[in-house]
Amino acid sequence: MAQAPGNMRDMLRALEVFPAGLPGFDTQAAPDNPVTLFLTWLRDAIGAGVLGPHAMTLATADAAGLVSSRVLLCKDVDEDGRWYFASSAGSRKGRELAANPHVALSFYWPAQGRQVRVRGVAAPPGSQASAADFLARSPASRAEALTGRQSEPMHDPAELDEALRRAQAQIAADPGLVAPSWTLYAVSADEAEFWQADQQRRHIRLHYQRTAGTWARRLLWP
Ligand SMILES: Cc1cc2nc3c(=O)[nH]c(=O)nc-3n(C[C@H](O)[C@H](O)[C@H](O)COP(=O)(O)O)c2cc1C
Repeated sequence: MAQAPGNMRDMLRALEVFPAGLPGFDTQAAPDNPVTLFLTWLRDAIGAGVLGPHAMTLATADAAGLVSSRVLLCKDVDEDGRWYFASSAGSRKGRELAANPHVALSFYWPAQGRQVRVRGVAAPPGSQASAADFLARSPASRAEALTGRQSEPMHDPAELDEALRRAQAQIAADPGLVAPSWTLYAVSADEAEFWQADQQRRHIRLHYQRTAGTWARRLLWP
């Protein structure tokens, strides 16, 4: 097999993944509710200055079960175990969610060697919540969302420039304007897993499962 310039295969195998001084994970002392643990880990990542600690991967599947994933920003987490994100309902993910609301989320905080996985069902909590999310965005981000064509093929970048100019003018004329397709989604979790890396590869995994409103915990083999 031909080697890539600089021998990428060897380079990849020589890379370090986990820094020294990783935090421990006392699973016996873990809270009953995974949201509490998630918020502790998120605060740790924010406090440690992780860039984009609220960035998460959202995996969706279409009606035929074909999957796709992308990075989004987590907009909130509530104590009922709902993780929030916002996007355009007309986008690829929006169309997939309309056909199949089952999703998976994952967070990765490299400096802490921590991963969190969440599985659940996504549903929009309502148009008022979507409007509030939209209006809290920066003017540039509102203009982008107002173009309303996320994930469509773009034939000419000049069309985007023109659409952004029109959207900026609309926002200037009507600051309360809300993009009709902008949607806040809430992922109601039925599973959450917390993974703590260990430099000696004795990684720790704690899995939460919600059944009839009650969370149960168990360890998983790494
Ligand atoms: C760090 C980061 C944050 C992002 N946040 C969002 C977001 O909150 N909402 C969104 O619609 N797209 C966001 N994107 C863009 C998405 O990854 C994706 O390109 C877009 O939503 C279209 O996805 P789709 O074609 O699967 O619908 C973000 C990308 C990155 C890298």
